[in-house]
Amino acid sequence: MTNNPDLSRRAFLAAAAGAAALSTFERPALAAGPSMKDAYKDVFLIGTALDFRSASEFNETELEIIKTQFNAMTPENSMKPQSVHPQENSWNWTQPDTLVHFCEENKITPIGHCLAWHSQTNPWFFQGATRELALERLKNHILTLVGHFRGKIAGWDVVNEAINDNGPATTENLRNSQWFQIVGPDFLTQAFKFAREADPRVALHYNDYNIESGNKHQSSLLLLKRLLSENAPVTVVGIQGHWSVSGMNAQKLEQIDQAIENYKGLGLKVAITELDLTMTGAGGGQLGAGGFGGGPRRGGGGTVTPEALQSQADAYAKLFALFLKHRDVINRVTFWGLNDRRSWRAGQNPLVFDGQNQPKPALEAIVNVAKNANQKAQR
Ligand code: XIL
Repeated sequence: MTNNPDLSRRAFLAAAAGAAALSTFERPALAAGPSMKDAYKDVFLIGTALDFRSASEFNETELEIIKTQFNAMTPENSMKPQSVHPQENSWNWTQPDTLVHFCEENKITPIGHCLAWHSQTNPWFFQGATRELALERLKNHILTLVGHFRGKIAGWDVVNEAINDNGPATTENLRNSQWFQIVGPDFLTQAFKFAREADPRVALHYNDYNIESGNKHQSSLLLLKRLLSENAPVTVVGIQGHWSVSGMNAQKLEQIDQAIENYKGLGLKVAITELDLTMTGAGGGQLGAGGFGGGPRRGGGGTVTPEALQSQADAYAKLFALFLKHRDVINRVTFWGLNDRRSWRAGQNPLVFDGQNQPKPALEAIVNVAKNANQKAQR
């Protein structure tokens, strides 16, 4: 019997399947811990920001974390004007295409970032430009880039960080960027219209930091109302969410709560687009004067105490409880980075996986918020 080739082949396959099952069973617990994307699957997308700068960018553990924890992905740098469109007639598609392809293969929703920004934009956009020429370059940039990914990308950060940091609550307080100087305050409306022209269905975001509180929040409301009155097709407000553990007090949570309500009142959706909670030092979000190299990351913050990790977990849990409360308008929460080594704030341990890809207490805390809410709903 055993030399019946068909049977022995079946036996071989059965043995192999058994061995595979056993080895899965015996494999140590996943480094990735409980899954955020599973816990929030009926609530909103959970995203990460990264780039595939080379074929071997991520190790196996990191790939496993990406696939088990996240169902949305923003390119951290590769779709920014400077990276994707360094000269008027040159485009770098390799990294953006790789990312979108990876997303397609792994059922991850890709998000585009970002089209018009004062930073990481090469000077050629503005050289010798009149308003008309600058608008023509903006239009070509947006039609080509958004057009390239039409139907493949779920949303675009169309305008990034157009509002100044300190200013009165009574004006839009627009940043004096080259777009603003050369085109004027309607560069935003134009950018949104070009993006809509390039993709009739994609979500279009206004994205900024610190817009959830203080005068900058008031300015953001004035700006968004004006954009809507000019028929700019903005559909989502992106609150970046570069915050700190120490700053996440009751007042701050209340401000975020109110800001989400206010944006909802304008008929807009909300996404948390660049979440991180630094453990030491300040939050903020602006590109600092010193610059942050997009190259190899620093090694991850030094030793941190269990108490500090617990405070970070508590702060994240409070935030996610708030996001959950606003699930009717929040469609995505994206972390800015993958782990504490792959973060623009690597020195401040802001994410939920540490520099060695181990889950921090914040991961379980975030997952438990969704689980507890689910149990409550079922009772
Ligand atoms: C940051 C990246 O994380 C860095 O790698 C890069 O050197 C600078 O930009 N707000 C944004 C993001 O909208 O694009 C910024 O990303 C972080 C602040």
